[in-house]
Amino acid sequence: MAAYEVAAGGQAGLIGAEPSNVAFAGSATHAYSKALSAIPFERGDVILTTRNDFISNQIAFLSLRDRFGVEVVHAPDHPDGTGVDVEAMAALMRSRRPRLVAVTHVPTNSGLVQPVAEIGRHCREQGLIYLVDACQSVGQYPIDVEEIGCDLLTATCRKFLRGPRGSGFLYVSGRLLREGYEPLFIDMYGARWTEPGRYRPVETAARFEEWEFPYATLLGSAAAARYAMDVGLEPVSRRTPALAATLRDRLAGVGGVRLLDRGPAPAALVTFAIEGWRPQPFKQAMDARRINSALSHREFALFDFGDKDVEWCLRLSPHYYNTEEEVELVASAVAELAAR
Ligand SMILES: Cc1ncc(COP(=O)(O)O)c(C=O)c1O
Repeated sequence: MAAYEVAAGGQAGLIGAEPSNVAFAGSATHAYSKALSAIPFERGDVILTTRNDFISNQIAFLSLRDRFGVEVVHAPDHPDGTGVDVEAMAALMRSRRPRLVAVTHVPTNSGLVQPVAEIGRHCREQGLIYLVDACQSVGQYPIDVEEIGCDLLTATCRKFLRGPRGSGFLYVSGRLLREGYEPLFIDMYGARWTEPGRYRPVETAARFEEWEFPYATLLGSAAAARYAMDVGLEPVSRRTPALAATLRDRLAGVGGVRLLDRGPAPAALVTFAIEGWRPQPFKQAMDARRINSALSHREFALFDFGDKDVEWCLRLSPHYYNTEEEVELVASAVAELAAR
């Protein structure tokens, strides 16, 4: 079996898909732009998305707006802070008939979990094309593309999946493949050149891949997918957000710390603002204590950080292999730094 089939088998298993519906990509962003390029947008078409979609996706939508005259519509958030208002989004689907509905499952800027399956039911009912960015959820939760009801799903391998950098993948539904959706730039791997003036895309999601592959990262990410499935996504999805919840509980008691994650059951992305610190020195102080963290700045999430009135926040993402003692240690370190 060829290397890419091995990889697709691994990634496909993670999301309840067939290998023939999965294309490997050099990053989630690469997979996402390939997916967007398959939609033949015309002037006046609507992309319906949320206020919490990933920064690079939002920039891509604006680029499509500027080049093709597409309109970008953001569904409002629910007033109770649980993420996008699904009923309002469904009403927009009915009134605006979007060419594409695009939702990020867990945004990078907080632990919010968007109700992607509920949104998917509305998309199916209304026959709309539905693209889900599952970068922060693959490897953290069991994902099932049938249950979500999406036509396209993108993910990275370098986050909760614990794979190598420079790897991602794209799921494409059988419906879209049968209907002939293909990336704007398709190469000799994704298509056969049948006559001088004609080509025919291959039947499978391989039409979204290219002749040349980064074989090392492909094999590494396939190994990561198999490893995650051996560990079991069910136990991972119980332990990982639970560790994050413990960390949130501990940080909630620290003066000067403001927790920013919303929703009834946030994912294992713990985000908070801290008084009296600038971003870089705070991150460096965490680094010096050998604690891995990431900074998010206002420009990463203009809507969300605007609503929360924060300029930056720190993100801590515990995973199943972290221990309760480590969570305690991290909370104590933040408390010590907050007290300075
Ligand atoms: C929600 C989300 N989508 C997409 C990406 C981009 O992934 P990649 O770096 O593999 O392109 C990220 C990375 O932070 C992310 O958090």
